[in-house]
Amino acid sequence: MSEKTKRRETGEPHYRPDFVDDLDATLRHAWACLARGVKDRRSPFHTPTIATLGTDGRPRMRTVVLRAVDTGARSLRFHTDQRGLKSEEIAADPRVAVHVYDARGKFQLRAEGMAQLHAGDALAQAAWDGSRMMSRACYATQPAPGTAIAAAGGFVLPEDEAAIVAGAANFSAVTITIAEIETLYLDHAGHRRARFRLDPDDHQAHWLVP
Ligand SMILES: Cc1cc2nc3c(=O)[nH]c(=O)nc-3n(C[C@H](O)[C@H](O)[C@H](O)COP(=O)(O)O)c2cc1C
Repeated sequence: MSEKTKRRETGEPHYRPDFVDDLDATLRHAWACLARGVKDRRSPFHTPTIATLGTDGRPRMRTVVLRAVDTGARSLRFHTDQRGLKSEEIAADPRVAVHVYDARGKFQLRAEGMAQLHAGDALAQAAWDGSRMMSRACYATQPAPGTAIAAAGGFVLPEDEAAIVAGAANFSAVTITIAEIETLYLDHAGHRRARFRLDPDDHQAHWLVP
């Protein structure tokens, strides 16, 4: 029996999480979802979509793995190959957008912020040191990601640990400092949409018509 049917039969009131009518709690929920996404591989927040602006001005999106969340610094981190297109796009224009939809939680998160590429600095080194060997291997692929190849398998993966370690030169950590978060909670008893401006000197929170 579904939860919905069970509630109908027992006369239990419709479930609404506590945060839905509370702006501060909604923002805390958004950050909690992101933080959980780092640790929980099955959470939809583990693999957010990141949009950049292409150097031709077109929007471009792709999935990444969320590696770290710092609520105090309002930042997220993911890892990428410096040779990839998104690195070039972020270097040219650091404005990015983030999107996650959690169907089970009935919660959409949209965020906007500024990305920063870290390569060869202390943050990148710590991120590399904290990565598993399996994840590191991607950065040693030859030729570079996005290169057109004649056959589907026309690329080479590193064959030993030394080759994997050499891929460190291509590794970068990208941090995104979030400026704005918009949330949408779906509920037949009334959707809830909110926007948060995260400027530490001018924090703003508003409900919006869904
Ligand atoms: C589940 C999943 C996780 C991914 N994680 C990453 C990631 O953490 N970093 C990354 O650069 N690409 C990741 N990718 C690949 C990107 O979505 C994308 O295809 C690739 O990075 C090329 O993007 P670009 O040409 O915009 O640089 C992931 C793809 C999937 C499907």
